Amino acid sequence: MIKSEKILREVHDFARENFVMILSDECERELKRLFSEYKPKRVLEIGTAIGYSSSVMALASDCKIDTIEKDGERIRAAKELWKKLGVDGRINCYHGDADELLASVVEGKTYDFVFLDGAKSAYKRQLEFLERHIKRGGIVLCDDVLYLGLVKGDGYPPHKHRTIVNNMRAFLKYVEESDIYECDLIEEANGIAIVRKK
Ligand SMILES: C[S@@+](CC[C@H](N)C(=O)[O-])C[C@H]1O[C@@H](n2cnc3c(N)ncnc32)[C@H](O)[C@@H]1O
Repeated sequence: MIKSEKILREVHDFARENFVMILSDECERELKRLFSEYKPKRVLEIGTAIGYSSSVMALASDCKIDTIEKDGERIRAAKELWKKLGVDGRINCYHGDADELLASVVEGKTYDFVFLDGAKSAYKRQLEFLERHIKRGGIVLCDDVLYLGLVKGDGYPPHKHRTIVNNMRAFLKYVEESDIYECDLIEEANGIAIVRKK
């Protein structure tokens, strides 16, 4: 196993053992498949956490990544990881609430790959905002879209999950009925949406 893979494997196992949120294994598989097919150059991620998925992306293609995270402790861990892997020069991390930062981060930029993995209630709002910043043929990968299995169907969600479930249903309806996007829904893990701008 090469050194970078060994480092990532250790971070992956640490995250799983300590309930640190990183993307699901199924989403990682799709991420790698999409990177090998599209070889994106300009990537935006919302939800850096400890830098696991951004490291996977940086190692999978010679891309530049903008990533947004609100938790400073996680950003510190992410920066250490990027440095260890030698990918720190290609990743710009923005510290703050994505709702507040997004407009300034993406101003004047277009992306060929977006990974939505931050606040689950915000996916629709973020995608709508990002539309003119995503290139034609660009991919938007979205993790956890079936959120605890509560999103499918139209059953009444438990009170504490109601906002996320209703917003995620609205997000899926939006991408499935959209003229701008086409969407593949993978019903594994917590649900993965692969959205492509036509
Ligand atoms: C599922 S984790 C991201 C995992 C990461 N993409 C990975 O796979 O390694 C979600 C992250 O989004 C961050 N987050 C949630 N809401 C946010 C917001 N409004 N603005 C910025 N970051 C946010 C959380 O702090 C958390 O670290």
